[in-house]
Order: sequence, then structure tokens, then C-alpha cells
Amino acid sequence: MRVRTLDMLEARGKRVLLRADLNVPVKDGRITDLTRLERLCPTIRELCGKGARIIICSHFGRPGGKRVPELSLRPVAEALEGVLGRKVRFADSWLAAQQAARTLADGEILVLENTRFDAREEKNDPGMAKELASIADVYVNDAFSAAHRAHASTEGVARLLPAYAGRLMQAELEALDAVLGHPQHPLAAVIGGAKVSTKLGLLGNLIGRVDVLVLGGAMANTFLAAQGVAVGRSRQEPDMHETARDILARARQAGCEVILPQDVVVATQLAPNVAAQTVPLYAVPADAMILDLGPATVQALVHRVPGWRTMVWNGPLGALAGAVATATQSGQLISVAGGGDTEAALSHAGVADRFSYVSTAGGAFLEWLEGQTLPGVVPLRG
Ligand code: 3PG
Ligand code: MG
Repeated sequence: MRVRTLDMLEARGKRVLLRADLNVPVKDGRITDLTRLERLCPTIRELCGKGARIIICSHFGRPGGKRVPELSLRPVAEALEGVLGRKVRFADSWLAAQQAARTLADGEILVLENTRFDAREEKNDPGMAKELASIADVYVNDAFSAAHRAHASTEGVARLLPAYAGRLMQAELEALDAVLGHPQHPLAAVIGGAKVSTKLGLLGNLIGRVDVLVLGGAMANTFLAAQGVAVGRSRQEPDMHETARDILARARQAGCEVILPQDVVVATQLAPNVAAQTVPLYAVPADAMILDLGPATVQALVHRVPGWRTMVWNGPLGALAGAVATATQSGQLISVAGGGDTEAALSHAGVADRFSYVSTAGGAFLEWLEGQTLPGVVPLRG
């Protein structure tokens, strides 16, 4: 999909409403990860350098249309100031926002209060979109991770001002295009996760596009059980067996190879210090639960990775991450990961910077893999 980019924006002296995703993870009142702020910096720096007057808006958490003090963006704006190394102003009310927007100098940055404190945001209310548009000359959307929401600050306002994709939005779209738009084959998808029911749309779309589909996580248990494998007390969804068999049949028709575990790590409980053992797939004890792929499965997968040219990755499946990182670094593989907690898992495994691209998006990445059109992206089309 072609979008208008910052290359096409003559920004000097213009008030730019920049939709960012400042929805950073917080624990006990502290920001636990600055990735989303860091990934936003190229767009802000470029706009500053071009002499734009930058007005940043974002949601933060789910305050439900009310002012919730713990979900104020003020501390996030302060963190952004630290990450950017530039002064960032903050407006805690709409009146303050209007005044500040009038007095902003070229290259200055203002952050507005949480858009979801206003109940009109999530309703995509035209009145709110109009208000937002009234304080700016152009709109730049750098919040791919919120682009699956048709809200006033992501969709409504984009239709009222000249709208452009920021550099992070552009990078996210280019990475996804490399995987699902114009991929080099063989193309593999590695999909983990707990439930088949939440990944149905995604699996349905992927089997028609990818050459190889690797399934992991508790979701794989459902596929195994659906084929008659005794999975003991493993987490699985008995009411999805029919669906799982249907997905496998459609994959076969589409020429998509589905790879499921051939051996597994099991234990009688999911608790620390419980003895785990590796068993072949046909030997899962009746009182045991499957916890992970076994070493033979991991080995077999590691041998497959160098044969792939492109891969898309969602979910934990940590054991394979090293092989993907190595193939990526040797230039043989384009690897794109995202969705859910994938970014955190890969960062934790220390391999995130050795994938070709790791998305900042959770739900938006998954909806894209489902083949959906994202309402926040549509108005940016060039
Ligand atoms: C996210 O963190 O996934 C995005 O910021 C979207 O947040 P939401 O799921 O509350 O809309
Ligand atoms: Mg979310």
C-alpha cells in the first residue's frame, strides 16, 4: 500500500498534529519499557529539523472517557523529553492546548493530555475530530500500533487535514509489505499463542499465503488433540477440534505445509521446581501437561530455517529465535515479528535487534496478518 510520507510534507512553520502511540507499559506507576518512545524519535527529530510546530496526541491505557489521574500523559511526556533530549511542553486541558498551539515556535514540541479522557475519542465523534483539526495545519500518523482503532484521533481527524505517515508508520507498513505484500519465497509463518479461537482469522489468511506454517504454544495442543493425539491434561480447546481439522484440510489444499511438534516437554504441574521430561508425541502421560516443544522438534525446525527467505513471527517460541536471528544476520532471511507480547519476548531473549524488523504493534499487527484493512492507515494512502 502506498502512503503519503514525510518526504512530501513541506513542514516549516506548520502546526503538525502528530498522532503517536504513547501507550507505554507501566508497572507500579513506573514506565517499564521505553521502546515506543524511542521508535517515535526519528519522526519528531525530522519534523523539528524541518521547523514544524509539533503537537503530539495519544491515548494511554483505557480510562473509559473519564479523567483518570494515573493515566495522565504528563509523566510520559517527561519520559519523552528524556529520550529525545529536547524540551517537551505539556497541556493538561483543551484550553491549555489551544493556547499552547497558538504560541508554539518552529521546532517546538507540545504533548496533549490522554485523548481517551474524552468519551468522544473512541466513538470517533466528528466534533472531537474537528476540534483536533482546528489547532493544526497538517496531520501525521506515526501510531501504527493504534491504527486498528477507528477513533477521532486516528481516523476522524485524518480525514479533515492533509494526512501523512510518519517514519515509524512507514517502516511498519514496509516491513509488513515485505512479508505479505511482495514476499520472497519460501515464506514461513511461526505462530504461537494460547488459543486457536483468537487466531482463527489470522490462520485462515496465512494458509493461503505462506508456504510453511509452524504452530506452537497451547494452540498447537488443540491441533494435536484434534488429530487424535492424547495430550493428557494439556491446555487445549476441545470445542475447536473441528475447526482445527478444517484449517489443516484447507492448508493441505492450498499447498501450505503445517509443522506441529513431534516431541514435547511435559510435567504434571505448571509450577517451579516440578520435574519436566521430554517424551515423544505418542507418549504424553495421562496426568501430564505439555509445556514446550521437545529438542527433536526444535532441532528439526532449526534445520529448516536456512531454507526460508522470508518469515513472519508471532508469539513466544523462544527456542527458534536464535536460528532466525542468525539466518537474518547472514542476509539469507527477512524476518518480521510482532503482535501481542512478541516484542517483549524477543527483547528478553536478546535477539530483537537481530531480526529484520520487530513491530511496536500488538493488536494492529495481528489484524494486518488477518488481512484486514486498518482504519488508521486508509486515510494516509497516496
Ligand atoms: C496497544 O498498546 O496495543 C495500542 O496502544 C492500542 O491500545 P488499545 O488496545 O487500548 O486500543
Ligand atoms: Mg492492545
